Amino acid sequence: MSERFNQAAADWDKGDMRQNIAHAVFQTITSRVALLDSMNILDFGAGTGLLSFKIAPLVKSVVGIDLSEKMLEQLEAKNSIHLQVKPMCRDIVTQPLDEKFHGIVSSMAMHHVEDTAALFKTFYHHLKRDGFIAIADLEAEDGSFHTHGNEGVHHFGFERNGLRERIEQAGFEHVRFHHAYTVAKESGVYPIFVVTASKKR
Ligand SMILES: C[S@@+](CC[C@H](N)C(=O)[O-])C[C@H]1O[C@@H](n2cnc3c(N)ncnc32)[C@H](O)[C@@H]1O
Repeated sequence: MSERFNQAAADWDKGDMRQNIAHAVFQTITSRVALLDSMNILDFGAGTGLLSFKIAPLVKSVVGIDLSEKMLEQLEAKNSIHLQVKPMCRDIVTQPLDEKFHGIVSSMAMHHVEDTAALFKTFYHHLKRDGFIAIADLEAEDGSFHTHGNEGVHHFGFERNGLRERIEQAGFEHVRFHHAYTVAKESGVYPIFVVTASKKR
């Protein structure tokens, strides 16, 4: 799976689609969650940092986790003395971090993770008390979203009810879905949600 993204990394930021998704996801997150300059945030599946670098100016620190070294190289190249995101190549489900975060964000990565129940348990474990998640992904689709094939795509988007159950089973409360954006392609239209939830006290 990381091979797919290693190959795509150099051209990932080209074109409008991914930039528009990241922009809309960022707007949706900031309209629903108060990001504070005291917060440390984890961006799961950060890729080249399209979302991470929008979040970074608002908070204390952002860690961008990804399995693709090449995507993270692109992320690292955007670091400057003024704005930094810490790249980390690691599978946090099998190798949890010692650090706990005020919040976990993610855009368009969850459909690449087979066991989403385990993923939400991992997110829960990596949050401080009262921490939040804000996770963006596709609404259920027919498998036509990925124009270059479905290798490494474990979910054709998500049914909200099933996802809500998995999130609640991991221990989260206040699970809310928000429409963020709709991608229009020749093959169809693909709405994207942001689901927010908080760690139970
Ligand atoms: C569709 S890209 C999205 C990247 C970025 N969030 C964006 O919006 O441009 C999905 C990213 O998730 C990463 N990914 C997939 N499974 C992962 C996992 N288990 N842990 C960390 N990253 C993962 C991939 O390597 C890829 O960079």
